[in-house]
Amino acid sequence: MALAALALAWGGCGRFDSPAGYLTSRSEFGDVSLRIFHQILGWDTAIFLLVQVLLLVAVFRFRERDPRALPVQIRGSARLELAWTVVPAVILAFIAFPTIAAVFRTQAVPPAGALRVQVVGHRWWWEFRYPDLGVTTATDLHLPAGRPASLEITGADVIHSFWVPQLGGKRDAIPGGGTRIVLTARTPGEYYGQCAEFCGTSHANMRDLAVVEPPAAFDAWVARQQQPGASPPDGSPAAAGLDVFRRNACVGCHTINGVSAGVVGPDLTHLASRRTIAGGMLPRTPENLARWIRNAPAVKPGALMPEIPLSDADVQALVAYLESLQ
Ligand code: CUA
Repeated sequence: MALAALALAWGGCGRFDSPAGYLTSRSEFGDVSLRIFHQILGWDTAIFLLVQVLLLVAVFRFRERDPRALPVQIRGSARLELAWTVVPAVILAFIAFPTIAAVFRTQAVPPAGALRVQVVGHRWWWEFRYPDLGVTTATDLHLPAGRPASLEITGADVIHSFWVPQLGGKRDAIPGGGTRIVLTARTPGEYYGQCAEFCGTSHANMRDLAVVEPPAAFDAWVARQQQPGASPPDGSPAAAGLDVFRRNACVGCHTINGVSAGVVGPDLTHLASRRTIAGGMLPRTPENLARWIRNAPAVKPGALMPEIPLSDADVQALVAYLESLQ
């Protein structure tokens, strides 16, 4: 049993740097809470070991030797009571003061020149708007490495919680706004995020991907996102897809720059530049796009995008169009 427990525990901490792990930090915002975590873990481990040693000593040293003998009767010990009041209080002070300091540090005011990103939690996907750059996207949060970013977090409908473990702690996304994370992502890479506040049927399917890039790659991404949506050549399957998009309910809910201006669902202007669809649930492949368009609620429980009756030919054309939106 001990071996089985050890194997399970070992499996759980096999990869500290797993994409959604919180035991590594890729931002100074994450460093603050990780440091507190390590400190408290240190205290906990010391207390655990001390208690185990005392327990073993007590078990062996004071075990019952003669079942008839009455143990020594003790009543009260001012010294012991003082010790187990003062020592925990001191330990708690060592935990509390750095924690309070860290709380204030994670509420920092964004420095001048910070990249502003409005993070909006929707049922069940994340929207990212860059108000100073005129860019709106969903699910993939692009951040330049080494530049402070100010994430202004709100909820569009219910309370969500924005959390990319490798970049630091979570923070609630409340309708009406008011929360913020200021962080400087350090290491280029892709880090998974997950909504961390139960928000309904597909809470578990509300994911995001933080894409941290060197500044030049980020600027290139911004330049591409600022372009209007691709207009497909006449007569191509994608052009037929654009027509399907215009004729159906899609147009009322989604924005494609230059085509439509819906604000219910994600902005699709550059859908094909994103890694995933359906709020980070599925890789963006033509097969998954077709499944999603045919019947979104069947793929993602509770999805607000309705089942749209389309012919196979229309679905294929729509997929071709969406795939052209680089
Ligand atoms: Cu959004 Cu849970």
